[in-house]
Amino acid sequence: MRKNPYQPVEADVEEIIAESPVIKTFALRPREEIPFATGQFIELSVDGIGEAPFTPSSDPNNKERIEITAMNVGSVTAGLHEIKKGQAVGIRGPYGKGYPLNEFKGKNILIVGGGVGLAPLRSLIFALLSQVNDYKKIYLRYGAKTPGDIIYKDQFSHWQEHIDIELSVDKGDSGWKGRVGVVTMLLENFKEDLNNTVSIVCGPPVMMKFATLKLRELGFPPENIYLSMEKNMSCGLGKCGHCRVGKYYVCKDGPVFNYAQLQGIPDIWD
Ligand SMILES: Cc1cc2nc3c(=O)[nH]c(=O)nc-3n(C[C@H](O)[C@H](O)[C@H](O)COP(=O)(O)OP(=O)(O)OC[C@H]3O[C@@H](n4cnc5c(N)ncnc54)[C@H](O)[C@@H]3O)c2cc1C
Ligand code: FES
Repeated sequence: MRKNPYQPVEADVEEIIAESPVIKTFALRPREEIPFATGQFIELSVDGIGEAPFTPSSDPNNKERIEITAMNVGSVTAGLHEIKKGQAVGIRGPYGKGYPLNEFKGKNILIVGGGVGLAPLRSLIFALLSQVNDYKKIYLRYGAKTPGDIIYKDQFSHWQEHIDIELSVDKGDSGWKGRVGVVTMLLENFKEDLNNTVSIVCGPPVMMKFATLKLRELGFPPENIYLSMEKNMSCGLGKCGHCRVGKYYVCKDGPVFNYAQLQGIPDIWD
């Protein structure tokens, strides 16, 4: 543990992958190891601009390289998108609680992602695939705005060897042969023993809200629905109170929660 918890570790940018017009993946090599569990987050700082939280999208078993997939939405992420290979960023963390993989063992896994929300879920997919025999069937249902907004396109064919995958886009184009509509549409015909299935959801708040409602409508018990919550954060250390949701601090008690913990708390999707 560092003496000053706000002091970041420098990390060199090794590779930059353009995933969509507004989303890039940054492969970072921290100058000190930053082991993380899938679903935990880090605070990433860009020199002269500030810091923002991101959940690594990479394989937690790779201790030397951390990948962050970031959408360009504001000041820090715009600065990050300007960064070139060979430059450095700062990382502090990891923080929070990740996915409780032990509780997922022996169960079916239904992963539901929207947009850049597939980033934390990709790390989860790597972790699941590294011990694929521990789980029953794995499903991925992923939606993006348009075919050009689908991230990790080159990885689906490999994942398909072990994962039942269905994709949808809100708006197709001339080359799109898949489903058109919101991602919750892909859940309609899901048929498994719901008491032995966990669903893990990550995406924009409105998508998380409607996916959770749909999963409840299908009969998923609230404790079998896991959500990665994205709240405004500052310290990341459970001290400033910025990320408070009901009695929880998302940075410390989350960002992964099951819906039984959050049900009944007002404004969780804001
Ligand atoms: C635990 C956690 C994990 C996260 N993981 C990821 C990740 O893996 N990849 C990723 O791209 N983002 C992730 N985010 C969101 C990311 O932290 C924000 O996008 C980032 O803080 C924005 O900082 P900024 O300075 O660029 O934008 P700001 O200048 O702070 O914000 C600019 C505007 O964008 C809006 N905005 C902020 N976030 C989003 C968003 N996600 N989508 C659309 N509009 C937004 C704000 O409301 C504001 O109006 C995560 C957030 C949390 C809390
Ligand atoms: S970000 Fe400060 S308490 Fe959570």
